[in-house]
Amino acid sequence: MIERAVIEEVLARTDLPSLIGSYVTLKRAGTNLTGLCPFHSEKTPSFTVFTGSNSFYCFGCGAGGDAITFVRRMENLEYPDAIEVLAKRAGITVRHTVETAGGKKYDRRRFYDMNREAARFFHANLHKDTPNARAAMDYLREKRGLSAATITHFGLGYAPAEYGVFSDHMKSEGYTEQELIDGFLCGRSEKGRLYDAFRNRVMFPIIDLTGNIIAFGGRVMDDSLPKYKNSSDTPVFKKSRNLFALNFARTACAEQLILCEGYMDVIALHAAGFTNAVATLGTALTEEQARMISRYTKKVIISYDMDEAGRRAADRAVRMFSDVGVEVKLLKLQDAKDPDEYIKKFGADKFRRNLEESRTRFDYNFERILGAYDLNVPQEKVKALAGLCELISGFYSSAERDVYIATVAKKTEINPASIRRDVERLLAKQRKEYKTKENQKIRQSTAGLGDKINPDFVRNPSAARAEETVLGLMLMREELCSKATAPPYSLVQDDFFTAFGKKVFAFLTDGSENRQTDVNAVFSPEEVGRITQMRIRRMQLTENGENVFADSITILREAVAGQREKDAGITLKSLTDIINRRKDEQ
Ligand code: UTP
Ligand code: MN
Repeated sequence: MIERAVIEEVLARTDLPSLIGSYVTLKRAGTNLTGLCPFHSEKTPSFTVFTGSNSFYCFGCGAGGDAITFVRRMENLEYPDAIEVLAKRAGITVRHTVETAGGKKYDRRRFYDMNREAARFFHANLHKDTPNARAAMDYLREKRGLSAATITHFGLGYAPAEYGVFSDHMKSEGYTEQELIDGFLCGRSEKGRLYDAFRNRVMFPIIDLTGNIIAFGGRVMDDSLPKYKNSSDTPVFKKSRNLFALNFARTACAEQLILCEGYMDVIALHAAGFTNAVATLGTALTEEQARMISRYTKKVIISYDMDEAGRRAADRAVRMFSDVGVEVKLLKLQDAKDPDEYIKKFGADKFRRNLEESRTRFDYNFERILGAYDLNVPQEKVKALAGLCELISGFYSSAERDVYIATVAKKTEINPASIRRDVERLLAKQRKEYKTKENQKIRQSTAGLGDKINPDFVRNPSAARAEETVLGLMLMREELCSKATAPPYSLVQDDFFTAFGKKVFAFLTDGSENRQTDVNAVFSPEEVGRITQMRIRRMQLTENGENVFADSITILREAVAGQREKDAGITLKSLTDIINRRKDEQ
């Protein structure tokens, strides 16, 4: 939780035109400023900064909001991180309270400072002139082939082998045992003794998008197990929401991003100039990570380990990226187990050529299936064909399917027409399953075609527009927010038509908690854009005072009542249908 007062201060001390001006060339247009929108490509400016309300809005793509929304979108940052960036810019320290699983409250900064101190200690320790430290340095430099610059760039370190050396240092820096335990830098034994979580391991700091050290991974230098030890989740670290080296890759991955499995893969890739590489943190890719990545890049190249586990993980990741609409390709590396080894063996140029030739999902799986079966054995050929048909049925475009059907037909010497029939049978089956299982979902998404933020809108545009007018006026004139819920209006959530409208209304009228909250804490940047639009579009209406408000409430209520009757009619009709069908069956 960040205190409302801090957010207010950050916003007050941020000059929106100069913030936006550092990304966009702005020209004065009356009292406002305009420029080319940084969120979509355009030739004539439709992006406007409203100096009066300290907000921005693009009439072309609907992006809009305040300074926090701008930084969230522009820098691809989560809400608290965006505030932190703005606070740093304004010279304000943000107190951001977080809570441990045990219910202990901390200022987030305390964890960051503690981790930074730990990283500094590990890094200095790596450079010490002791036998152990020299062995660790040799491991990184000689065995793993890292340069001194790379070690510094990633802030790598070495955790001492002896118990207590690390925790004694941290205590001398003022950190308590409980803090060290809550930050997963130490643990407590059953006998109650404090122990250092990382010992005799080379250390990889995990850094978030604003440059804070949030966790560590530590690797043994021999074959002992576990090979890597990673920080557990803390109030400032969620494995499932962070990626290794995204802090570096963030600005280099717009065209394509390389996703690998291991810390060392990423480090080797960055050292070889592929600064667009990231890795998950000791877990399989999560949906959250896939979605996050989709905000940074158009294309992902998966470069997982060339073993069975890596292949399976890659298949899964491919599906997840397709789901979030990111183009995805798989990299096949010959004669190396992972990208780290590949670059070491064959060099960066060869890796780059591989990248350029990286294969599509079809090619990759085509070869994989062919490799698994012997086409000269009839039963195996049948199985291979079944797998290939299944694969082809996964492609949405029929033209694409036709191309692959031809490829398979040629390879297997089977008539393309019969392959097509099999594929179509599969497709029909999938469609049926999809329909029954996701009927609801489909209806919602097709209804909201073209309106992802407010999918209910198209169900009754005139009701939705009336609703937006009411909300727009409330956004324009704060006093209407308290008036709205009192007589004569007595508006309640159910007066609103769309789920989004209800949510905005609840936000604007909840006097207790929500109003303590910033709009950016409750809504996504896209939703904030829509809310800004509601306000901007109704700007001229406020000249007519409260009458417009009263009128638009009446229009809204009538439209919603009309829609309800219609919905009820539909329900009644389907009920009658069911009853009639029952009669027929009897
Ligand atoms: P790998 O076993 O492929 O390790 O695990 P690697 O990256 O190739 O490591 P090197 O090259 O032997 O040093 C891939 C990733 O899985 C996680 C780590 O994030 C690792 O980078 N992992 C692996 C763990 O978290 N714990 C383990 O014990 C092993
Ligand atoms: Mn590996």
